[in-house]
Amino acid sequence: MQNILITGASGFIGSHVVRHFLSKYPDYTLVNLDKLTYAGNLENLRDIDQNEKYHFEKVDICDFDAVQKVIQKYEIDSIIHLAAESHVDRSISNPTEFVLTNVLGTVNLLNAAKDYWKDDLDNHIFYHVSTDEVYGTLGATGLFTEDTPYDPRSPYSASKASSDHFVRAYLHTYGMPVKLSNCSNNYGSHQFPEKLIPLFINNIKNKKSLPVYGDGKYTRDWLWVVDHARAIDDVFHKGKVGETYNIGGFNEWQNMDLIHVLIEQMDAKLGNAPGTSKELITYVKDRPGHDKRYAIDASKIEKELGWRPSVTFEEGLSKTIDWYLANEEWMENVTSGHYRKYYESMYVHR
Ligand code: NAD
Ligand code: TYD
Repeated sequence: MQNILITGASGFIGSHVVRHFLSKYPDYTLVNLDKLTYAGNLENLRDIDQNEKYHFEKVDICDFDAVQKVIQKYEIDSIIHLAAESHVDRSISNPTEFVLTNVLGTVNLLNAAKDYWKDDLDNHIFYHVSTDEVYGTLGATGLFTEDTPYDPRSPYSASKASSDHFVRAYLHTYGMPVKLSNCSNNYGSHQFPEKLIPLFINNIKNKKSLPVYGDGKYTRDWLWVVDHARAIDDVFHKGKVGETYNIGGFNEWQNMDLIHVLIEQMDAKLGNAPGTSKELITYVKDRPGHDKRYAIDASKIEKELGWRPSVTFEEGLSKTIDWYLANEEWMENVTSGHYRKYYESMYVHR
């Protein structure tokens, strides 16, 4: 029996983690602690929210007393921490918000868990979910390993790097039973359409321009979100305390190549002539400090925990597009109101 607190589970990856754990571990009690920012949406877990093993608490991780109450109320024995501000472009416009949630919020959560578990720390897990962006940027060759020195270059990655350092410091200083993973770019259903893939799917569908930053020659390593949820399961259950696991898709794409595959699949699914949506491609001003290339060496999690991605990129992308095309109402809900203002400030005058 486990009572697991999953923070940020109304967001993209967290909602997949909850769905995965509920179906695989029906005896576990899962508590979703989420502030419901613009990125958190109760619709993301509508299919399971009546499950008696699932509970939702609308709480800000920066609110120590409220976090402590939730931990006590559900007698939480493990935490999977995903709540964060997660979008690089927003971190450039508003870095302070990232320090508050990603750094202060993580320290709050560590303190609340430490207070509650103080008498038998060894029987618990504090699992911190992080990003490959903490390692900085790569040249044309090489991969990020677990030993790559940290070199964050955006306010987002600096805040995540800082939170990773705190988590490790709590292991060394207080004996906190921590595990960490650093994952590459995720894609899949329920992702807020500010990130490249859902934004471009939505724009192709609505015949809106596709804003490519800079020359489009930036490289990312893409992983289907369901495979990230499987990896989180493996690290949580089989990973060693105090260890870090890099998670990646073995799947590098330059942005323009990825955009062409996306256009090919979208045009076919929408019944357009092949290549129709290429005319939507618009080169826009680059992101400041844009990291050139991310690529993960995921051999440690593969060798030690037996994890591998389960789908090819083309398969994962096809499933992802199908979901967005079948869930127009979800997209309409999340793109109303504030989204319009965000979109204008990001793209209209770029
Ligand atoms: P997301 O932006 O989709 O969701 C974040 C969730 O956290 C939302 O539900 C939001 O409401 C919640 N949240 C934000 N601030 C909060 C606060 N102060 N208190 C409580 N809840 C709060 O993010 P995501 O893409 O699902 O990412 C989840 C985690 O995985 C993050 O820690 C991120 O750094 C990490 N990560 C993401 C990716 C990716 O490609 N998306 C890759 C590697 C790691
Ligand atoms: P994004 O999905 O924001 O993830 P991250 O910056 O965390 O890797 O961006 C992925 C890549 O796509 C990145 O190189 C920036 C680029 N990009 C665009 O070219 N246009 C866009 O509108 C967005 C959102 C991203």
